Amino acid sequence: MAKRNLPSPVFNYLDGGADDEWTLGRNTSAFEDYELLPAQLSDVSSINLKTTLFGEPVDWPVMVSPTGASKLFHASGEPAVISAAEKFGMFYSLSTLGTTTIEDVAAAGNCPKMFQVYILKDRGLTAELVARCKASGYKALCLTVDTPVPGNRERDAVYGFSSGRLRLRAVPSWMRHPGWLYRAIVKKDLEMVNLTSSDRASLKGEQSLLEYFNDQLDRSLTWKDVEWLASEWGGPLVIKGVQTVADCRHAANAGATAVMLSNHGGRQLEAAPAPVDCIADVADALHDKLEIVCDGGIRRGTHIVKALALGANACSIGRGYLYPLAAGGQAGVEKGFTLLRDEVERTMALMGCDSVAKLGSSFIRYRG
Ligand SMILES: Cc1cc2nc3c(=O)[nH]c(=O)nc-3n(C[C@H](O)[C@H](O)[C@H](O)COP(=O)(O)O)c2cc1C
Repeated sequence: MAKRNLPSPVFNYLDGGADDEWTLGRNTSAFEDYELLPAQLSDVSSINLKTTLFGEPVDWPVMVSPTGASKLFHASGEPAVISAAEKFGMFYSLSTLGTTTIEDVAAAGNCPKMFQVYILKDRGLTAELVARCKASGYKALCLTVDTPVPGNRERDAVYGFSSGRLRLRAVPSWMRHPGWLYRAIVKKDLEMVNLTSSDRASLKGEQSLLEYFNDQLDRSLTWKDVEWLASEWGGPLVIKGVQTVADCRHAANAGATAVMLSNHGGRQLEAAPAPVDCIADVADALHDKLEIVCDGGIRRGTHIVKALALGANACSIGRGYLYPLAAGGQAGVEKGFTLLRDEVERTMALMGCDSVAKLGSSFIRYRG
């Protein structure tokens, strides 16, 4: 449904990954290397999915990953996802590249919120974004560290999405979606409003906002800069985009309280490991120092249960709510969350486990 509802360049931007999309595919197929081991004849008359995440109570251990520009995929954009997340008792994450402001997201619903920030060359702009999150009551801050440069997403080049140039092959698809074009061109509904609402983001000459942003990505960043961000923020700090025990240890030492094991949904480093394969080692080494979130490839309830049994505190989904958003706005996202949560509950019952707090290594086996 998402494919039918979106112009092809936009759908391929959502759906695609870097280079040959090996990592994109592997993020999901890696789950097949694990088997679930049931404990039969356990009392599963009620299943408890409640837990806490980044110091906040949540109704089940799944959160919304930060993704830029939700209004690309549906006119209702970020507020629709927030309303759905609120109904399902989940953490919502806003991207720096969102199409709704930090303040409007804060007002859009009562679920706990996380802001995903980049440490930009203009540290003043980063500090300003952090101050706005504090003033708006965000519960956590997330630093994405896997984007020193943009990934090589070849579908975006093929369909003209990254260059902003019109490709002949995409013309019929644009013509079939006049409503989308009206919103983009006439209503200017797709702006990265968190950057345009700051006086610091000054564009040079013909530079587009996206070019300005890409120019602001700072290749010189080190863990020292994370220490700066941790002291600037002073609350739960999540490092997103790490895969190794060594990097997770750096994160903890720099002041982070959580990590998102993630390769940006296969959109940055091709050949990066699947997040699910990173959980056990990190949990063994650092579970007492960091909360661990598995982010990438999750499409089924069994994937969530496997990640938790391996030692993750929670899972995070990107495309898992973006396809439903494009398919049906808020109702689509709610339908997606319902399917996923029902699958988790059914899997737990079939495994003989009545609480996510009890999931552990006895319930899972590596198949190799
Ligand atoms: C369309 C799209 C836009 C994204 N934008 C961002 C972003 O602005 N910041 C960020 O940290 N991650 C971004 N991500 C990555 C997601 O936060 C998340 O890591 C990824 O989607 C997880 O993989 P999954 O889609 O298989 O669940 C984006 C992902 C997609 C699909």
